[in-house]
Amino acid sequence: MGKQVIIIDHPLIKRNISILRDKTTPVNQFRDTVNELSTLMAYEVTKDINVQTYEIHTPLEKTEGYFVSDQIVIIPILRAGLGILDGFLKFLHEARVGMLGLYRDHRTHEPVEYYSNIPSGIENSVVILIDPMLATGGSAIMAVDYLKKLGAKKIKFVCLIAAPEGIEAFHAKHPSVPVFTASVDRCLNHNKYILPGLGDAGDRFFGTM
Ligand code: PRP
Ligand code: URA
Repeated sequence: MGKQVIIIDHPLIKRNISILRDKTTPVNQFRDTVNELSTLMAYEVTKDINVQTYEIHTPLEKTEGYFVSDQIVIIPILRAGLGILDGFLKFLHEARVGMLGLYRDHRTHEPVEYYSNIPSGIENSVVILIDPMLATGGSAIMAVDYLKKLGAKKIKFVCLIAAPEGIEAFHAKHPSVPVFTASVDRCLNHNKYILPGLGDAGDRFFGTM
């Protein structure tokens, strides 16, 4: 199965995305809302992870319990991806975390790598790559290229807002990596920002406008 785009448009997610879009939303509320939204998305993104059974004893009898048997590695693309991390860790107690630092050059709009710290064993892990915005797709493509080179086989890409142009470019390069998003917006503007979007995700989350 290829080129999957999963739009998670639960009513509470739609409500939270609206708060993020609003330019009058203050930075503390923006952070809290991203946090809540990512927890809701984590639930959907992890629906197919594998569990195994083990024996537990309730106060009354013996029964089967479940533990997560997949190894999970979450990789935020710095810096804005850090905003989504806590929401995922709330559910995925077992997950390990890697970091990939990329910024988009303001003139060329091309991603530039400046940091990476990826845990060992990603070739046998479910890798959840997180970044709030998929605009041109350049950053996500570079990140997946890099992770595949390190041996990652099962990768999911999670964002809050995607542009149609970004999805197309991403799936042209990585058709088997599913994209989970809360919204597919209209298009990119001449500066490669998503319309209507929410502006610069990193600046709004870290208050650096
Ligand atoms: C933003 C965003 C993505 C990238 C998306 O990061 O968080 O990483 O832009 O754009 P693309 O799809 O066109 O590559 P930015 O480069 O602004 O860096 P920051 O997170 O450090 O603010
Ligand atoms: N990066 C952002 O933070 N926002 C956009 O709209 C596009 C790229």
